Amino acid sequence: MTHAAFLTQLPTDVADHLASILDMVEDVLKSQCQSQVKTIESVGDVTRSAGGKRLRPTLAVLSALATGLPVDHGRLASLAASLEMVHMATLIHDDVIDAAETRRGKPTASHINGNTAAILGGDVLLAKAMRLLALDGDLRVIRAVSDAVVELAEGEVRELEVRNNFELTEETYLEVVAMKTSTLISCCCRVGAMATQAPRTIEEPLAQFGFNLGTAFQIIDDVLDYSAQDTVTGKPRGTDFKEGQATLPLIDLRSRINEQELAGTRMMFGNPLADVGPVYKTMVLHGSLERASKTAHEQAQRARMCLDDIPTTPFADLLAQISDFVVSRDA
Ligand code: IPE
Ligand code: IPE
Ligand code: MG
Ligand code: MG
Repeated sequence: MTHAAFLTQLPTDVADHLASILDMVEDVLKSQCQSQVKTIESVGDVTRSAGGKRLRPTLAVLSALATGLPVDHGRLASLAASLEMVHMATLIHDDVIDAAETRRGKPTASHINGNTAAILGGDVLLAKAMRLLALDGDLRVIRAVSDAVVELAEGEVRELEVRNNFELTEETYLEVVAMKTSTLISCCCRVGAMATQAPRTIEEPLAQFGFNLGTAFQIIDDVLDYSAQDTVTGKPRGTDFKEGQATLPLIDLRSRINEQELAGTRMMFGNPLADVGPVYKTMVLHGSLERASKTAHEQAQRARMCLDDIPTTPFADLLAQISDFVVSRDA
């Protein structure tokens, strides 16, 4: 998928404007992945060149434009790129944790370069992201991004703590989602607003929009982990169940199946060799995927409501379009 491909109804001038900034983001990403150490360069480039939706930099750019205030495009591209680099680093590390061999439809950095190089290469990307922010020099932005990175990393560890917990509650699940995903997506919108020196009355609704959007996004990711083919998402199907990570569809299913089905599902949960096909079928039968998806739609709706508090511009409409895309996507 090329960047911003999920924005389908763009007037030409808006599309050109956005594309020119996102092209600058790509240039920054490309140059930041270069390294005198070839293995480090490979870890970054494997992840970068595999594509991805570029959701986070797109949100940062759109949020800045949606304030209606003037902004330096070069600076905005650099901030947006640093947010994608944080994301790339977390994906590289996540694939080590999950022993995932594919991502973005291509072999993962850890599969190509080994776990050790992937961990260290991810660290380099993270450090370079922080260096970009330091060079930019806006202390509020540095603070916001470092807070989000701390929260995200803690969320990943919190998730590890609840691994193999078949009885995970919806409340704890949503806590983990907020930490590992919603916070960074919210931060992207906030940083976009900060880049324009927008007043808090605009920054806060944008950050809240991002938070709700991030929650919707992760719930759909968790639905797709059961329902979508690897060839569509570009990552292995059924990872969450096989790794013993209970997500919303499973939490919903638990209360709807009989004792015998429950025991069978519990026995397969956390088994890397488990066949998720039958679990998926049971989820379809009991409407668990549909209900999880409905929860995501509600979060997306909440996100859209936050946009009522920002100026009316074509960019606010695009943010609304993203909230539709996030819950209707199939990859
Ligand atoms: C994957 O994020 C990690 C989650 C938070 C679910 P994306 O689905 O945005 O990954 P890319 O960047 O498009 O590959
Ligand atoms: C998102 O969760 C992890 C990060 C915050 C990096 P997942 O573990 O569901 O992400 P995918 O499905 O591997 O992309
Ligand atoms: Mg994962
Ligand atoms: Mg996932």
